[in-house]
This record gives sequence, structure tokens and C-alpha cells, in this order.
Amino acid sequence: MKFYNLNYHKEQKKFNQVLKIGLGKNQGLFFPKNLPRLNNKIITDILNYNFIDRSSYLLSLFINEKEISSDILKEKIKKAFNFPLKLNLIDKNLSCLELFHGPTLAFKDFGVRFMAQMLNFFNKKNKIIILTATSGDTGAAVTHAFNKMNNIEVVVLYPYKKISILQEKLFCTIGNNIKTIAIKGNFDDCQNLVKQIFNDKELNKSLSFNSANSINISRLIAQICYYFEAFSQIPLKKRKKKVIFSVPSGNFGNLTAGLIAKAIGLPIHKFIAATNINDTVYRYLNTGNWSPKKTIPTLSNAMDVSSPNNWPRIMEIFNKKNWDLNKLTSSVITDIKTTKTIIDVYNKYKYILEPHSAVSYCALKKQISKKNTFNVFLGTAHPSKFQDYIFNILNKKIILPNILIKCIKKKNLSYILPNNFYYLKKFLIKNYII
Ligand SMILES: Cc1ncc(COP(=O)(O)O)c(C=O)c1O
Repeated sequence: MKFYNLNYHKEQKKFNQVLKIGLGKNQGLFFPKNLPRLNNKIITDILNYNFIDRSSYLLSLFINEKEISSDILKEKIKKAFNFPLKLNLIDKNLSCLELFHGPTLAFKDFGVRFMAQMLNFFNKKNKIIILTATSGDTGAAVTHAFNKMNNIEVVVLYPYKKISILQEKLFCTIGNNIKTIAIKGNFDDCQNLVKQIFNDKELNKSLSFNSANSINISRLIAQICYYFEAFSQIPLKKRKKKVIFSVPSGNFGNLTAGLIAKAIGLPIHKFIAATNINDTVYRYLNTGNWSPKKTIPTLSNAMDVSSPNNWPRIMEIFNKKNWDLNKLTSSVITDIKTTKTIIDVYNKYKYILEPHSAVSYCALKKQISKKNTFNVFLGTAHPSKFQDYIFNILNKKIILPNILIKCIKKKNLSYILPNNFYYLKKFLIKNYII
């Protein structure tokens, strides 16, 4: 299988190449050349496989056996997906796909850990530096995924004193091949510094950088696997109903993966794209005008995106499959509704949601009473990541998962640098060139 550039169709590359370069010419996203169609028998068969075997089967549809043998692919997937994935039935026809039981308690662990395993495998010769800016979650996922990989170094920039202590402890206490730098500025400053490094000719002559960001196709195809796993965990009788997924969306990578799962044959009836008030997609679906506005900060902050960068991939799927874009439902959930949802769901089910998962639940709510549907909302982060806010509204302390308890006791190993390219460049030269 090859992948082509959506902005320049002539640029076609194999998996291991798109893995390394991320974006193609003209800032184009890569997309699989074929979306294989699995027939009903194959779908029924693979739904009976365990998660690792099924994921190996699915990912081998996109990565040539010549690039990586199926045995090695399976071994890598086993290392990447080494944590539980649970479809939690919270009402008769309602369940949460809990994607937050990985090492950094968020759905990102799936995509980033798979990408890390692939880069580790395909990059045998020269050292790669994964350089990324984070406002919290990405840093955690990236540092844990690449920890101790001997041909890879990781440098994460984050805004000094602008992320929670818990978040900081989760990724700044690791050591080994990981360096974390608190920049005296905001998240945008960190992103600008990363961009400047990627554009610096002198540094790029001697070092190979990769951002491991969410547009990388390797992260996206890994996410297809959990839609299949969700389906396999739906009780057999309920699978006959119309299965609906509500996906909390920011950059729309998660939804893209779900749509690819459907495109290759998983019988998903419908998707709901759930967003906070950063509603570019909702307005586009209703008016046909793509007009991003200034991004507004919300409680579901990881979804504060007004120009979702995966949207061209979604359009490509609809075009290729000849699907009607009107069938994609979009729902906009305000912060007031998000908070009310968390309170209501706790009172009704004694189930604790965090803001992103609450947005996806709230968008699905109207469906739940319909008897002929089975409804799944994606739980993308563990509520303990929002413990202060949840304590404020529910007056309930959340039991912290072991991973958080362990790292709270560890020492923060971060460096602190001014918001200035000169110092960052000097830091990289000192640590990685000399
Ligand atoms: C907790 C959480 N939920 C949902 C999303 C949205 O996912 P996507 O950007 O793939 O739409 C993110 C994105 O970072 C996230 O961190």
C-alpha cells in the first residue's frame, strides 16, 4: 500500500517514508491509496480475534509485508498496545469506550505508542530527535512512548508554570533519553520555537528532527483498531442494532480513524462529531462555508481547535466512498452543558466523566432513548486529569491511578529556558552535536 499527498496526488510514498516525513509537499496530508473493503465474513471472523491479532491484521492492510514482516509487526503492536481497552456498559444501550487506561491516561497513547514502535523499527541508522511542544497531554504520551528507545532522543517544550503540577510530573520525571524544557512563555511561544528549529538549516544539517504530531498517518491508522475492538465488545444481541459512535473532536483525527474503520467494512450506522463551541465543522456542515473563527478557550481544552487539520482527510473519505456529508451529524456543546452533563451523569449512573468525554456523551444523549440503537461515546481522558474541577462540581475526590501516584513522588528533571531561540539552539548543540 502507498499513501498519496492530498495536495499533490503525484507524491506517493510507502508507509516507512510517510512515517518519517509526516507532511508532504505543499503541506499536504498523506492518505491511503486504497481503502480495502473487507466482506462480512472477514469482519465477523476478525471480530472474534483478540485485540492484538485483530490490530495486526488491520494494520497489515496498510503496511506492506516487504516493509515489515507480519510477525515483527505483531510484536511491535503488542508492545504499543500493552494496556486494557474497555467498553463500559453504563445503561442498556449506552456505553463508554474507555480509551484512557494507557500509561498517560488518554487516548493518545494508542497512536503515539504505535508511531514510536514503528520509528524505532524503521530508523536503524541515524539518531532521530523527536521535538514537540505540548500544553500537557501530548508531552506525556510522547515521552512515555519513546522512553528508553536507543536510536531516539526526545525533547519536549512546554510553557513554564502554565500546566498543572500533576501533568508536569507525568512527563518531566522520566530521565533516560527524554529532556523536558519549561519555556518562559506560553504554548504558542513553544510551538514557534519548534517551528524555528525545524527551519534552521545549520541544525538540520547535523540532526534529524521529527515532531510526532497528530497529522502523522501512523498515529491515525493505529486508532482504527479501537473502533473494531469496541464493536467486538458489544454484546452479540446488541450488535444487530444501529450502532452509533459519538466522537469528541478537535483536530478530527479520532473521527477520521472511525470513518476509515467504517469505510473498510465495520458496520457503524452513524457518527456524531461532537465539538465544544469551537464550531467550524458544525457551521460548515450547515452552511457549506468554511470560516474558522478565533479559537475560544473551553473546559474541554484539548479540543479548542478552530481549523481542524484532519478535515481534508474526512472530505477525501466521503468523496471516495460517495457518502453523503449530510449524514454526518455534528453537535456543539457549551461549557455550561458540559458541566451540567458531568453532574447529571454522576447523579444518574454514578459514573464520572471529564469534560472531553462529557462533550461526546452530551452530543449522543438524544439518541439513547431510541430502542433500535446501540450508542457508544468515546472516553478520551481519565477523570483524574481534571480532579480539581471535578471536585468543585461533584464534591467528590477521584482515586488517582497508580501511574500518577508513582510519579508524584519523583523529582522534576526539567530545564528552564527563556523564550528565545538562541538559548534553545545552544541547548540542542550542546546536548546532541558536541
Ligand atoms: C482528551 C481529548 N479528547 C479529545 C480530543 C480530540 O481528538 P482529535 O483532535 O483527534 O479530534 C483530544 C485531542 O487532543 C484530547 O486530548
